[in-house]
Amino acid sequence: MSRVPPYRPHEIGGAELREAVLRYASHPLYLDNEEWLNEDNPYRRQLRPQVLAGQDFDRVLPKGELLNYENLAAQRLLTCIYEADLVFLPQGGFADPAKWEDFRAFYSSSNRALGEAIRPALERFSFGFLDDEVETSGKWDKASLEAFLRALTVTGEPTASEQAIEKSSDPARAARMWLVQFAPDFLSEASPMIRNVMGHYGQAQSEWFKVIIDEYGYGVHETKHSTLFERTLKSAGLRSDIHHYWQFYLTSSLLMNNYFHYLGKNHELFFRYLGALYYTEFTLVDFCRRAAELLRRVLGEEVDVEYFTEHVHIDTHHGRMALERLILPVVDMCGDTVIPEIVRGFEEAQAVVGIADRDFADQIAWMDAGPHNKELHTPCWEAISTGRVTAPIAHLVEPRGELSNTHCHNGDELCHIVSGTMKFVSGFDAHQILRAGEGTVIRGNRLHGAIIESDECVYEIHSVGDYRSCLS
Ligand SMILES: [Fe+2]
Ligand SMILES: [Fe+2]
Ligand SMILES: [Fe+2]
Repeated sequence: MSRVPPYRPHEIGGAELREAVLRYASHPLYLDNEEWLNEDNPYRRQLRPQVLAGQDFDRVLPKGELLNYENLAAQRLLTCIYEADLVFLPQGGFADPAKWEDFRAFYSSSNRALGEAIRPALERFSFGFLDDEVETSGKWDKASLEAFLRALTVTGEPTASEQAIEKSSDPARAARMWLVQFAPDFLSEASPMIRNVMGHYGQAQSEWFKVIIDEYGYGVHETKHSTLFERTLKSAGLRSDIHHYWQFYLTSSLLMNNYFHYLGKNHELFFRYLGALYYTEFTLVDFCRRAAELLRRVLGEEVDVEYFTEHVHIDTHHGRMALERLILPVVDMCGDTVIPEIVRGFEEAQAVVGIADRDFADQIAWMDAGPHNKELHTPCWEAISTGRVTAPIAHLVEPRGELSNTHCHNGDELCHIVSGTMKFVSGFDAHQILRAGEGTVIRGNRLHGAIIESDECVYEIHSVGDYRSCLS
Protein backbone atom coordinates (compact mmCIF):
# COMPACT_ATOMS: atom_id res chain seq x y z
CA MET A 1 0.00 0.00 0.00
CA SER A 2 1.35 3.40 -0.83
CA ARG A 3 2.01 5.62 2.12
CA VAL A 4 0.29 8.96 1.93
CA PRO A 5 2.06 11.61 4.00
CA PRO A 6 0.00 12.67 7.00
CA TYR A 7 -2.64 15.24 6.20
CA ARG A 8 -2.06 18.17 8.46
CA PRO A 9 -5.14 19.96 9.64
CA HIS A 10 -3.77 23.46 9.10
CA GLU A 11 -3.12 22.76 5.43
CA ILE A 12 -5.76 23.83 3.01
CA GLY A 13 -7.24 21.41 0.50
CA GLY A 14 -10.21 20.76 -1.77
CA ALA A 15 -12.11 23.73 -3.15
CA GLU A 16 -10.32 26.07 -0.77
CA LEU A 17 -6.98 25.03 -2.24
CA ARG A 18 -8.22 25.37 -5.81
CA GLU A 19 -9.46 28.89 -5.13
CA ALA A 20 -6.25 29.90 -3.36
CA VAL A 21 -4.07 28.60 -6.21
CA LEU A 22 -6.18 30.48 -8.71
CA ARG A 23 -6.06 33.64 -6.65
CA TYR A 24 -2.28 33.44 -6.33
CA ALA A 25 -1.66 32.74 -10.01
CA SER A 26 -4.15 35.31 -11.31
CA HIS A 27 -1.97 38.23 -10.31
CA PRO A 28 -0.90 40.20 -13.42
CA LEU A 29 2.70 39.08 -12.77
CA TYR A 30 1.76 35.55 -13.70
CA LEU A 31 -0.46 36.01 -16.75
CA ASP A 32 0.52 34.83 -20.23
CA ASN A 33 3.28 36.65 -22.05
CA GLU A 34 2.88 37.94 -25.59
CA GLU A 35 6.52 37.04 -26.23
CA TRP A 36 8.53 33.84 -25.81
CA LEU A 37 11.04 35.46 -23.49
CA ASN A 38 10.91 37.70 -20.44
CA GLU A 39 12.82 40.95 -20.89
CA ASP A 40 15.02 41.67 -17.89
CA ASN A 41 12.12 41.28 -15.47
CA PRO A 42 12.75 38.68 -12.73
CA TYR A 43 9.20 39.04 -11.39
CA ARG A 44 7.21 38.07 -14.49
CA ARG A 45 6.66 34.31 -14.58
CA GLN A 46 3.95 32.78 -16.73
CA LEU A 47 1.73 30.44 -14.70
CA ARG A 48 -1.19 30.06 -17.17
CA PRO A 49 -3.89 30.69 -14.53
CA GLN A 50 -6.58 30.18 -17.19
CA VAL A 51 -6.12 26.41 -16.97
CA LEU A 52 -5.42 26.08 -13.24
CA ALA A 53 -9.07 25.83 -12.22
CA GLY A 54 -9.20 22.33 -13.72
CA GLN A 55 -6.15 21.03 -11.86
CA ASP A 56 -6.36 18.92 -8.72
CA PHE A 57 -3.34 19.53 -6.49
CA ASP A 58 -4.97 17.99 -3.43
CA ARG A 59 -3.26 14.61 -3.75
CA VAL A 60 0.11 12.95 -4.20
CA LEU A 61 1.03 12.82 -7.87
CA PRO A 62 2.03 9.23 -8.76
CA LYS A 63 5.52 8.74 -10.16
CA GLY A 64 4.12 7.71 -13.55
CA GLU A 65 2.44 11.13 -13.87
CA LEU A 66 5.40 13.24 -12.77
CA LEU A 67 5.85 14.86 -16.16
CA ASN A 68 2.17 15.54 -16.71
CA TYR A 69 1.00 19.12 -17.09
CA GLU A 70 -0.22 19.33 -13.49
CA ASN A 71 3.35 19.03 -12.29
CA LEU A 72 4.73 21.60 -14.72
CA ALA A 73 2.07 23.94 -13.32
CA ALA A 74 2.94 22.99 -9.72
CA GLN A 75 6.68 23.38 -10.25
CA ARG A 76 6.22 26.78 -11.85
CA LEU A 77 4.08 27.81 -8.86
CA LEU A 78 6.62 26.50 -6.35
CA THR A 79 9.47 28.30 -8.10
CA CYS A 80 7.61 31.60 -7.66
CA ILE A 81 6.80 30.85 -4.04
CA TYR A 82 10.33 29.81 -3.01
CA GLU A 83 11.96 32.63 -4.90
CA ALA A 84 9.98 35.29 -3.09
CA ASP A 85 12.62 34.67 -0.36
CA LEU A 86 15.43 35.56 -2.80
CA VAL A 87 16.39 39.05 -3.90
CA PHE A 88 16.38 39.64 -7.65
CA LEU A 89 16.87 43.00 -9.30
CA PRO A 90 16.58 43.72 -13.02
CA GLN A 91 19.98 44.28 -14.65
CA GLY A 92 18.74 47.54 -16.16
CA GLY A 93 17.15 48.93 -12.99
CA PHE A 94 13.71 50.46 -12.59
CA ALA A 95 13.58 53.19 -15.22
CA ASP A 96 10.37 51.56 -16.40
CA PRO A 97 7.75 52.33 -13.72
CA ALA A 98 5.87 49.13 -14.59
CA LYS A 99 8.90 47.12 -13.56
CA TRP A 100 9.02 48.94 -10.22
CA GLU A 101 5.40 47.99 -9.67
CA ASP A 102 6.22 44.37 -10.53
CA PHE A 103 9.05 44.40 -7.98
CA ARG A 104 6.75 45.70 -5.28
CA ALA A 105 4.01 43.23 -6.15
CA PHE A 106 6.28 40.17 -6.29
CA TYR A 107 7.77 40.86 -2.88
CA SER A 108 4.54 42.12 -1.31
CA SER A 109 3.45 40.35 1.85
CA SER A 110 0.11 39.49 0.25
CA ASN A 111 1.77 37.64 -2.66
CA ARG A 112 4.10 35.91 -0.24
CA ALA A 113 1.38 34.97 2.24
CA LEU A 114 -0.87 33.57 -0.44
CA GLY A 115 2.05 31.55 -1.80
CA GLU A 116 2.84 30.19 1.64
CA ALA A 117 -0.79 29.13 2.11
CA ILE A 118 -0.70 26.86 -0.95
CA ARG A 119 2.91 25.69 -0.58
CA PRO A 120 2.37 22.68 1.76
CA ALA A 121 -0.25 21.18 -0.55
CA LEU A 122 1.87 21.77 -3.65
CA GLU A 123 4.90 20.21 -1.96
CA ARG A 124 2.90 17.15 -1.00
CA PHE A 125 1.53 16.96 -4.54
CA SER A 126 4.94 17.23 -6.24
CA PHE A 127 7.36 15.59 -3.81
CA GLY A 128 5.06 13.04 -2.15
CA PHE A 129 6.07 10.39 -4.72
CA LEU A 130 9.52 10.29 -3.15
CA ASP A 131 8.06 8.58 -0.09
CA ASP A 132 7.46 5.48 -2.17
CA GLU A 133 10.53 5.93 -4.32
CA VAL A 134 13.01 5.60 -1.51
CA GLU A 135 13.52 2.89 1.09
CA THR A 136 15.58 3.66 4.19
CA SER A 137 14.43 0.95 6.57
CA GLY A 138 16.83 -1.22 8.57
CA LYS A 139 19.09 -0.48 11.46
CA TRP A 140 21.54 2.32 10.90
CA ASP A 141 24.43 3.55 12.96
CA LYS A 142 27.23 5.97 12.29
CA ALA A 143 29.57 3.28 10.94
CA SER A 144 27.02 1.84 8.52
CA LEU A 145 26.07 5.34 7.35
CA GLU A 146 29.68 6.21 6.68
CA ALA A 147 30.22 2.94 4.81
CA PHE A 148 27.07 3.59 2.77
CA LEU A 149 28.10 7.13 1.82
CA ARG A 150 31.70 6.24 1.09
CA ALA A 151 30.52 3.49 -1.24
CA LEU A 152 29.23 6.13 -3.66
CA THR A 153 31.35 6.05 -6.77
CA VAL A 154 31.02 7.70 -10.12
CA THR A 155 31.06 5.68 -13.30
CA GLY A 156 32.47 8.36 -15.54
CA GLU A 157 29.84 7.40 -18.09
CA PRO A 158 28.02 10.24 -19.86
CA THR A 159 24.44 10.73 -18.70
CA ALA A 160 21.43 10.28 -20.99
CA SER A 161 21.31 14.08 -21.37
CA GLU A 162 24.93 14.31 -22.42
CA GLN A 163 24.45 11.50 -24.91
CA ALA A 164 21.33 13.20 -26.26
CA ILE A 165 23.30 16.40 -26.91
CA GLU A 166 26.12 14.50 -28.55
CA LYS A 167 23.75 12.52 -30.80
CA SER A 168 21.40 15.41 -31.54
CA SER A 169 20.81 16.56 -35.11
CA ASP A 170 21.64 20.02 -33.74
CA PRO A 171 24.12 19.56 -30.86
CA ALA A 172 24.71 23.30 -30.37
CA ARG A 173 20.99 23.97 -29.98
CA ALA A 174 20.70 21.01 -27.60
CA ALA A 175 23.63 22.32 -25.54
CA ARG A 176 22.00 25.75 -25.27
CA MET A 177 18.71 24.15 -24.21
CA TRP A 178 20.76 22.32 -21.56
CA LEU A 179 22.32 25.54 -20.24
CA VAL A 180 18.85 27.10 -20.12
CA GLN A 181 17.73 24.25 -17.83
CA PHE A 182 20.51 25.06 -15.34
CA ALA A 183 19.69 28.78 -15.17
CA PRO A 184 17.06 28.60 -12.39
CA ASP A 185 19.58 26.82 -10.18
CA PHE A 186 22.96 28.26 -11.15
CA LEU A 187 22.00 31.95 -11.41
CA SER A 188 21.01 31.95 -7.75
CA GLU A 189 23.39 29.18 -6.81
CA ALA A 190 23.57 28.12 -3.15
CA SER A 191 20.48 30.15 -2.21
CA PRO A 192 18.60 27.03 -0.99
CA MET A 193 21.47 26.02 1.28
CA ILE A 194 21.73 29.47 2.80
CA ARG A 195 18.37 28.71 4.39
CA ASN A 196 20.30 26.26 6.59
CA VAL A 197 22.84 28.61 8.11
CA MET A 198 20.40 30.69 10.10
CA GLY A 199 19.89 29.75 13.72
CA HIS A 200 22.22 28.15 16.25
CA TYR A 201 23.28 24.53 16.06
CA GLY A 202 26.94 24.11 16.74
CA GLN A 203 30.11 23.46 14.78
CA ALA A 204 28.31 22.04 11.72
CA GLN A 205 26.65 25.41 11.17
CA SER A 206 30.02 27.04 10.68
CA GLU A 207 31.18 24.27 8.38
CA TRP A 208 28.11 24.75 6.25
CA PHE A 209 28.86 28.46 6.19
CA LYS A 210 32.30 27.68 4.73
CA VAL A 211 30.68 25.85 1.80
CA ILE A 212 28.57 28.93 1.17
CA ILE A 213 31.60 31.22 1.30
CA ASP A 214 33.14 29.11 -1.48
CA GLU A 215 29.92 29.21 -3.53
CA TYR A 216 29.96 32.99 -3.18
CA GLY A 217 33.57 33.27 -4.33
CA TYR A 218 34.83 34.51 -0.94
CA GLY A 219 32.93 37.73 -1.47
CA VAL A 220 34.65 38.50 -4.78
CA HIS A 221 31.80 39.01 -7.20
CA GLU A 222 33.79 37.96 -10.28
CA THR A 223 34.38 34.52 -8.76
CA LYS A 224 30.89 33.95 -7.31
CA HIS A 225 29.62 30.75 -8.90
CA SER A 226 26.54 32.44 -10.33
CA THR A 227 28.82 35.03 -11.97
CA LEU A 228 30.87 32.24 -13.54
CA PHE A 229 27.67 30.77 -14.94
CA GLU A 230 26.57 34.15 -16.30
CA ARG A 231 29.80 34.18 -18.27
CA THR A 232 29.09 30.68 -19.57
CA LEU A 233 25.65 31.77 -20.75
CA LYS A 234 26.93 34.91 -22.46
CA SER A 235 29.78 33.07 -24.18
CA ALA A 236 27.21 30.58 -25.51
CA GLY A 237 25.17 33.42 -26.99
CA LEU A 238 22.52 33.27 -24.26
CA ARG A 239 21.10 35.92 -21.95
CA SER A 240 21.67 35.89 -18.21
CA ASP A 241 18.76 37.98 -16.93
CA ILE A 242 16.73 35.99 -14.40
CA HIS A 243 14.07 33.77 -16.01
CA HIS A 244 14.57 35.23 -19.47
CA TYR A 245 13.91 31.66 -20.66
CA TRP A 246 11.13 30.88 -18.16
CA GLN A 247 8.91 29.27 -20.80
CA PHE A 248 11.67 26.84 -21.80
CA TYR A 249 12.27 25.21 -18.43
CA LEU A 250 11.22 21.57 -18.29
CA THR A 251 9.13 20.23 -15.43
CA SER A 252 12.02 18.16 -14.15
CA SER A 253 14.52 21.03 -14.30
CA LEU A 254 12.25 23.04 -12.01
CA LEU A 255 11.62 19.94 -9.89
CA MET A 256 15.33 19.48 -9.29
CA ASN A 257 15.91 23.10 -8.32
CA ASN A 258 12.75 23.23 -6.21
CA TYR A 259 13.68 20.03 -4.42
CA PHE A 260 16.55 21.83 -2.68
CA HIS A 261 14.36 24.79 -1.78
CA TYR A 262 11.81 22.32 -0.39
CA LEU A 263 14.48 20.80 1.85
CA GLY A 264 15.91 24.15 2.87
CA LYS A 265 12.60 25.87 3.46
CA ASN A 266 11.23 23.10 5.71
CA HIS A 267 13.67 22.67 8.56
CA GLU A 268 12.01 19.40 9.55
CA LEU A 269 13.88 18.17 6.46
CA PHE A 270 17.23 19.58 7.60
CA PHE A 271 18.87 16.16 7.88
CA ARG A 272 17.60 15.16 4.46
CA TYR A 273 19.39 18.19 3.04
CA LEU A 274 22.67 16.88 4.47
CA GLY A 275 22.31 13.63 2.53
CA ALA A 276 21.25 15.45 -0.64
CA LEU A 277 24.14 17.89 -0.29
CA TYR A 278 26.62 15.05 -0.08
CA TYR A 279 25.15 13.38 -3.16
CA THR A 280 25.25 16.51 -5.31
CA GLU A 281 28.64 17.81 -4.20
CA PHE A 282 30.18 14.37 -4.68
CA THR A 283 28.71 13.63 -8.10
CA LEU A 284 29.14 17.17 -9.46
CA VAL A 285 32.89 16.73 -9.77
CA ASP A 286 32.65 14.08 -12.44
CA PHE A 287 29.63 15.70 -14.06
CA CYS A 288 31.35 19.09 -14.36
CA ARG A 289 34.47 17.59 -15.86
CA ARG A 290 32.42 15.97 -18.63
CA ALA A 291 30.18 19.03 -19.05
CA ALA A 292 33.18 21.31 -19.68
CA GLU A 293 34.50 18.95 -22.34
CA LEU A 294 31.10 18.47 -23.93
CA LEU A 295 30.38 22.20 -24.13
CA ARG A 296 33.77 22.89 -25.70
CA ARG A 297 33.29 20.11 -28.22
CA VAL A 298 29.81 21.25 -29.20
CA LEU A 299 29.96 25.03 -28.85
CA GLY A 300 33.63 25.55 -29.64
CA GLU A 301 36.65 26.69 -27.68
CA GLU A 302 35.26 30.19 -27.18
CA VAL A 303 32.63 28.95 -24.70
CA ASP A 304 33.57 29.94 -21.15
CA VAL A 305 33.48 26.77 -19.03
CA GLU A 306 35.17 28.10 -15.92
CA TYR A 307 31.92 27.51 -14.02
CA PHE A 308 32.38 23.79 -14.62
CA THR A 309 36.16 23.55 -14.20
CA GLU A 310 35.92 25.49 -10.92
CA HIS A 311 33.44 22.91 -9.62
CA VAL A 312 35.75 20.04 -10.50
CA HIS A 313 38.20 21.65 -8.12
CA ILE A 314 35.98 22.90 -5.30
CA ASP A 315 33.41 20.10 -5.13
CA THR A 316 36.05 17.43 -4.56
CA HIS A 317 36.63 19.38 -1.39
CA HIS A 318 32.90 19.98 -0.70
CA GLY A 319 31.98 16.29 -1.01
CA ARG A 320 34.57 15.38 1.59
CA MET A 321 33.58 18.32 3.78
CA ALA A 322 29.90 17.38 3.65
CA LEU A 323 30.72 13.93 4.98
CA GLU A 324 33.53 14.58 7.44
CA ARG A 325 32.71 18.03 8.77
CA LEU A 326 28.94 18.08 8.48
CA ILE A 327 27.26 14.68 8.38
CA LEU A 328 29.38 12.67 10.78
CA PRO A 329 29.65 15.41 13.45
CA VAL A 330 25.88 15.98 13.21
CA VAL A 331 25.30 12.26 13.85
CA ASP A 332 27.65 12.46 16.84
CA MET A 333 25.66 15.35 18.17
CA CYS A 334 22.10 14.25 17.34
CA GLY A 335 22.31 10.46 17.48
CA ASP A 336 21.21 7.64 15.21
CA THR A 337 17.62 8.93 14.98
CA VAL A 338 18.60 11.34 12.22
CA ILE A 339 20.45 8.81 10.05
CA PRO A 340 17.47 7.48 8.05
CA GLU A 341 16.69 11.07 7.08
CA ILE A 342 20.25 11.63 5.86
CA VAL A 343 20.05 8.43 3.82
CA ARG A 344 16.66 9.49 2.50
CA GLY A 345 18.03 12.83 1.29
CA PHE A 346 20.87 11.07 -0.49
CA GLU A 347 18.49 8.63 -2.21
CA GLU A 348 15.93 11.29 -3.07
CA ALA A 349 18.53 13.58 -4.65
CA GLN A 350 19.74 10.64 -6.73
CA ALA A 351 16.17 9.88 -7.85
CA VAL A 352 15.45 13.50 -8.75
CA VAL A 353 18.68 13.88 -10.74
CA GLY A 354 17.80 10.70 -12.67
CA ILE A 355 14.31 11.98 -13.52
CA ALA A 356 15.71 15.28 -14.81
CA ASP A 357 18.33 13.49 -16.87
CA ARG A 358 15.83 11.33 -18.74
CA ASP A 359 13.31 14.13 -19.20
CA PHE A 360 15.90 16.37 -20.83
CA ALA A 361 17.10 13.58 -23.13
CA ASP A 362 13.48 12.97 -24.20
CA GLN A 363 12.96 16.67 -24.87
CA ILE A 364 16.01 16.81 -27.15
CA ALA A 365 14.69 13.77 -29.04
CA TRP A 366 11.33 15.58 -29.34
CA MET A 367 12.95 18.78 -30.63
CA ASP A 368 15.03 16.84 -33.13
CA ALA A 369 11.96 14.94 -34.33
CA GLY A 370 10.15 18.15 -35.38
CA PRO A 371 10.20 17.42 -39.15
CA HIS A 372 9.24 13.77 -38.54
CA ASN A 373 6.34 14.72 -36.26
CA LYS A 374 5.12 17.08 -38.98
CA GLU A 375 5.23 14.23 -41.49
CA LEU A 376 3.28 12.01 -39.11
CA HIS A 377 0.37 14.40 -39.49
CA THR A 378 -0.42 12.88 -42.90
CA PRO A 379 -1.22 9.29 -41.78
CA CYS A 380 -2.74 10.46 -38.50
CA TRP A 381 -5.00 12.97 -40.22
CA GLU A 382 -6.01 10.24 -42.66
CA ALA A 383 -7.10 8.07 -39.70
CA ILE A 384 -9.04 10.94 -38.11
CA SER A 385 -10.65 12.38 -41.24
CA THR A 386 -11.87 8.99 -42.42
CA GLY A 387 -13.34 8.25 -39.00
CA ARG A 388 -11.11 5.22 -38.45
CA VAL A 389 -9.92 6.87 -35.25
CA THR A 390 -12.12 9.09 -33.14
CA ALA A 391 -10.80 11.31 -30.40
CA PRO A 392 -11.99 14.33 -28.39
CA ILE A 393 -11.56 17.45 -30.49
CA ALA A 394 -11.08 21.14 -29.75
CA HIS A 395 -11.74 23.77 -32.46
CA LEU A 396 -9.70 26.94 -32.16
CA VAL A 397 -9.60 30.26 -33.96
CA GLU A 398 -6.77 32.62 -33.08
CA PRO A 399 -5.60 36.00 -34.40
CA ARG A 400 -2.14 36.99 -35.60
CA GLY A 401 0.42 37.11 -32.83
CA GLU A 402 -1.59 35.00 -30.38
CA LEU A 403 0.99 33.09 -28.38
CA SER A 404 0.12 29.82 -26.67
CA ASN A 405 2.54 30.02 -23.75
CA THR A 406 4.51 26.82 -23.36
CA HIS A 407 2.85 23.82 -21.75
CA CYS A 408 2.53 20.08 -22.28
CA HIS A 409 -0.29 17.55 -22.57
CA ASN A 410 -0.71 14.31 -20.70
CA GLY A 411 -1.21 12.25 -23.88
CA ASP A 412 -0.39 12.55 -27.59
CA GLU A 413 -2.37 15.04 -29.66
CA LEU A 414 -2.75 15.73 -33.33
CA CYS A 415 -2.70 19.40 -34.35
CA HIS A 416 -4.39 20.04 -37.72
CA ILE A 417 -4.35 23.45 -39.41
CA VAL A 418 -7.60 24.25 -41.24
CA SER A 419 -6.53 27.69 -42.45
CA GLY A 420 -3.76 30.16 -41.76
CA THR A 421 -0.21 29.63 -40.48
CA MET A 422 1.15 28.54 -37.11
CA LYS A 423 4.71 28.54 -35.86
CA PHE A 424 4.87 25.48 -33.64
CA VAL A 425 7.67 25.68 -31.08
CA SER A 426 9.04 22.51 -29.45
CA GLY A 427 11.89 23.93 -27.40
CA PHE A 428 14.54 26.62 -27.39
CA ASP A 429 15.25 27.62 -30.99
CA ALA A 430 13.23 24.65 -32.37
CA HIS A 431 10.14 25.15 -34.51
CA GLN A 432 8.10 23.99 -37.49
CA ILE A 433 5.90 26.17 -39.71
CA LEU A 434 2.48 24.59 -40.14
CA ARG A 435 0.20 25.77 -42.99
CA ALA A 436 -3.37 24.95 -44.01
CA GLY A 437 -3.80 21.18 -44.43
CA GLU A 438 -0.62 20.49 -42.47
CA GLY A 439 -0.10 19.77 -38.80
CA THR A 440 1.97 17.85 -36.32
CA VAL A 441 1.83 15.10 -33.78
CA ILE A 442 2.37 16.51 -30.28
CA ARG A 443 3.87 13.92 -27.99
CA GLY A 444 2.58 13.61 -24.42
CA ASN A 445 4.59 15.34 -21.66
CA ARG A 446 6.69 17.27 -24.20
CA LEU A 447 7.06 21.01 -23.73
CA HIS A 448 5.76 23.12 -26.62
CA GLY A 449 3.97 26.32 -27.54
CA ALA A 450 2.76 28.10 -30.67
CA ILE A 451 2.30 31.51 -32.24
CA ILE A 452 -0.07 32.49 -35.06
CA GLU A 453 1.68 33.98 -38.08
CA SER A 454 -1.31 34.76 -40.32
CA ASP A 455 -4.15 37.25 -39.81
CA GLU A 456 -6.17 34.36 -38.44
CA CYS A 457 -5.54 30.66 -37.90
CA VAL A 458 -8.26 28.04 -37.62
CA TYR A 459 -7.01 24.76 -36.22
CA GLU A 460 -8.10 21.58 -34.50
CA ILE A 461 -6.55 19.62 -31.67
CA HIS A 462 -7.45 15.92 -31.59
CA SER A 463 -6.58 14.25 -28.29
CA VAL A 464 -5.65 10.86 -29.69
CA GLY A 465 -3.91 9.62 -26.52
CA ASP A 466 -1.35 7.48 -28.35
CA TYR A 467 -0.59 8.63 -31.89
CA ARG A 468 0.43 5.09 -32.89
CA SER A 469 -3.23 4.09 -32.76
CA CYS A 470 -3.64 6.22 -35.92
CA LEU A 471 -0.92 4.36 -37.79
CA SER A 472 -2.22 0.78 -37.60
FE1 LIG B 1 28.87 26.00 -6.80
FE1 LIG C 1 29.95 23.05 -4.07
FE1 LIG D 1 -0.55 22.27 -26.80
